[in-house]
Amino acid sequence: MRVSISFYLHLLGFGLAAAALAGSFVLERKFRSEQDLNVKLYIGGLSRTMGLLSPFAVLLLLITGIGNIFNRYAALSIEWYQEGWLAAKIISFVILTLNGMIYGPRISRSRTKLVRSLYENSAPANADKALASLNHQMALFYVVQSTLLLIIVYLSLFGTAKHPGSF
Ligand code: HEM
Repeated sequence: MRVSISFYLHLLGFGLAAAALAGSFVLERKFRSEQDLNVKLYIGGLSRTMGLLSPFAVLLLLITGIGNIFNRYAALSIEWYQEGWLAAKIISFVILTLNGMIYGPRISRSRTKLVRSLYENSAPANADKALASLNHQMALFYVVQSTLLLIIVYLSLFGTAKHPGSF
């Protein structure tokens, strides 16, 4: 039996990425509903720890994705860049990664700073409004990341045409 370790690890990378996103989302809901500011800060810390999984998942997906390209196109008569689903997938992956590296941590840092200032009674006058706005931005961040992940999985499954079904 011929197996691809790269493909196996790629699927594990997908599982890790999905778990990191889902876990962070659950913590985000808890963060939003928690009234105690000290507990809020604690949940924010947990969420950052959970976020540390993402770089591992991204690196694993990238390295094994390149491995998949070598394996898949060695057996096909076309080049990897000639398949639209893969090009669209790589572009979506780059946006997902940049968004996760830049905007997510930036919003999270500003929000933690604000909640800490509220906890220490040194918050600016419009703190509640600012917090609501940051919460909104974070919700949008999760919508974008989840949508991109779903698009990537859709492209991976339907693009390869390896899973025919009757509907
Ligand atoms: C969030 C990121 C990613 C996710 C969730 C993901 C998910 C998946 C899944 C579920 C499959 C299996 C499809 C199937 O055969 O049934 C797959 C296949 C594949 N992925 Fe990814 N992937 C990601 C990133 C990447 C990247 C960055 C690359 C390229 C650099 C890549 C290249 C490939 C290739 C070429 C295949 C087809 C393998 C084959 O048919 O032998 N993936 N991916």
